[in-house]
Amino acid sequence: MKLKNLTVRNYIGEVDKARVEDLERRCGVGPADHAFFTDTMGDPICRIRNSPMYNMLVAEFGNEIVGVIQGSIKVVTIHINPSKDMAKVGYILGLRVSPRHRHNGIGSTLVHHLEQWFVANGVDFAYMATEKDNLPSVNLFTEKLGFIKFASPTILVHPIHQISFQLPSRIEISKLRIEQAEFLYRKFMGSADFFPLDIDKVLGSKLSLGTWVAYPKGETWGEYREGVQAVIPDSWAMLSVWNSGEVFKLRIGKQTASCFLYEMYSRLVDRLFPWFKSGEVFPDLSDPFGFYFMYGVHREGPQSGNMVRALCKFVHNMASKSGGGCKVIVTEVGGTGDELRHHIPHWKLLSCPEDLWCMKPLRNEETETARLREMTKTPPAGALFVDPREV
Ligand SMILES: CC(C)(COP(=O)(O)OP(=O)(O)OC[C@H]1O[C@@H](n2cnc3c(N)ncnc32)[C@H](O)[C@@H]1OP(=O)(O)O)[C@@H](O)C(=O)NCCC(=O)NCCS
Repeated sequence: MKLKNLTVRNYIGEVDKARVEDLERRCGVGPADHAFFTDTMGDPICRIRNSPMYNMLVAEFGNEIVGVIQGSIKVVTIHINPSKDMAKVGYILGLRVSPRHRHNGIGSTLVHHLEQWFVANGVDFAYMATEKDNLPSVNLFTEKLGFIKFASPTILVHPIHQISFQLPSRIEISKLRIEQAEFLYRKFMGSADFFPLDIDKVLGSKLSLGTWVAYPKGETWGEYREGVQAVIPDSWAMLSVWNSGEVFKLRIGKQTASCFLYEMYSRLVDRLFPWFKSGEVFPDLSDPFGFYFMYGVHREGPQSGNMVRALCKFVHNMASKSGGGCKVIVTEVGGTGDELRHHIPHWKLLSCPEDLWCMKPLRNEETETARLREMTKTPPAGALFVDPREV
């Protein structure tokens, strides 16, 4: 049933901010037993602000804001059409409908309006990501709105302990300059699906804390950049870190399944190791917390798994010393076949094994839909780049 007199319009900060924040606070994302909540810290548009082009729409019913949606547009690498490997993609983010008004067509109306904005701006494909278990969202996009399930990456989460990891003595870790990082990413990850054309903006953002490489101690990391033939080690790895906690915080419902297990775990630790404060083992995730997102994780060479592991530990230690309310480290890797996951320390209890990425062609719909469907019959062969701006 559709609500009569529902209006959809652009978000106006001065008028809507408080009401949108309130809506966000009331809308848990995902199934009730492990829903999470977002705290946008006074700036509801913070998640899209770093994108080259963005928009936020609100749905109003009477005097109440009953729904909200955000979208961003950018050019990325994508191998759907064999004749071109770049496309303009419209990202759908932060769709929320007030719990009291759900199942009244507000969610679909908001997506339709955002798609119109995408089309008016020459977007080739709309994209959205959701948890596989979020049935209302999965049904809305795949059954009602014609989105096609495109990939199922895995979100890996590791809690931050106050105790630092010991770093392997045989591995050297160095920070790269932004231009060096950009060069390496374009060279080694430029052909990964969803690699953004404006990677320089991502790396140069104040939210990006830096890019690090790891390689065997005793070997040299040459000045690896355009026009210079540097000798680099046989095995190496790189990653960058995004401080998501600077823009928004997460909160997990107290009675979630994970927290239930966490409580059991903490009690066990308390009993077996009373000298160990449980807060040091597992942070309390029921208060709003920030997180570091590791993006652009890439490795080359036979020993590179160890280099990835060393980098992850290095990031953990950096986060544990940051004192900025950062409680977990998050990263996203390809589907179950992606070997990278075996080298990234994570807790299964907190991780999400199947995030669902869905796409919908907005131009040449028939041909592109057939291509997309064909592609999804086999798991994506190449790497995926997860842009921290869409997390
Ligand atoms: C997902 C969400 C936005 C849907 O909004 P909505 O206004 O209720 O959606 P609509 O009324 O337009 O529903 C359209 C379709 O979605 C699906 N759907 C919506 N609610 C559903 C539910 N509870 N269970 C199963 N399917 C559901 C149905 O296919 C429905 O079609 P139908 O009406 O013909 O049955 C809303 O549930 C919500 O805000 N959830 C919390 C935040 C969230 O998870 N956002 C998505 C993150 S990607």
